[in-house]
Amino acid sequence: MSQDFGFALAKRRGITLGDIGHRIVEENDQTRVWEVRLEPGEMLDFHIHRHPYLVISLGGGDNEIETIFGDRIATSEPLGHTVAIQEKRAIHRLTNTSDTLYLSRLVEFKSVRWVYPDEGEFLPETPVGGTVPEGFAAAFKEILINAADEPWSPKSLAGLSQKMLWRNEESGASIALIKFEKGVGIPNAHAHASNQFMYCLSGQYRYIPTGTTLVAGSFYCNPVGSVHGPTVADETTVFLEIYDGPHYPVQPPWYTDASDAQ
Ligand SMILES: [Fe+2]
Ligand SMILES: [Fe+2]
Repeated sequence: MSQDFGFALAKRRGITLGDIGHRIVEENDQTRVWEVRLEPGEMLDFHIHRHPYLVISLGGGDNEIETIFGDRIATSEPLGHTVAIQEKRAIHRLTNTSDTLYLSRLVEFKSVRWVYPDEGEFLPETPVGGTVPEGFAAAFKEILINAADEPWSPKSLAGLSQKMLWRNEESGASIALIKFEKGVGIPNAHAHASNQFMYCLSGQYRYIPTGTTLVAGSFYCNPVGSVHGPTVADETTVFLEIYDGPHYPVQPPWYTDASDAQ
């Protein structure tokens, strides 16, 4: 497969990529459902897909896909027609070439995220000297949090609190400071839905069945699906905790607030 998905060309032509549909009908952790609605002659402008997807036609469907390279593909998607796209495609746009309304639902499967090898070409040049080229500030957004100034937020397990530093709502990945008061721990054996990494900043924290003990300076990794716990903080303990995806497969019983499981 070509490694050129058209990002460099889009940049040269000054094209800004748009949404893949007209409105989001419904969204959850796994899927995002878009409505695509094109009047006769109307166009959905250049875009790229970030996830595999399924299109279900609700009517119309004589359209034309035009890639950024100028390739044109006629499509026919009558009412009830489905098409599943499981491979990355170049930047493209969609035009309703018929004289009837085209309406569809496009379902994105968010568990797979596509990155494009030529996407870096799309970003503005790195600034040299003091001037920031147009578009650069929009492409990179820095975050700076002085965690020491932030309050601890209690979680719904008594004696456990956190300072959330960064979260990706789409993937569920996060980086947080976590504090267990002395004597507090996770009461059950459990596994996580992603890889968990912890760096112990202070205190002493123990996985009871194995005796695995973390102290200041300990780095700990529990791979996705690996069962550990219950645990106890022998001393008040603070961790930097990183998950590379959702924290739990289902809401664990020790949190009464669903947001604490994320
Ligand atoms: Fe598309
Ligand atoms: Fe855990």
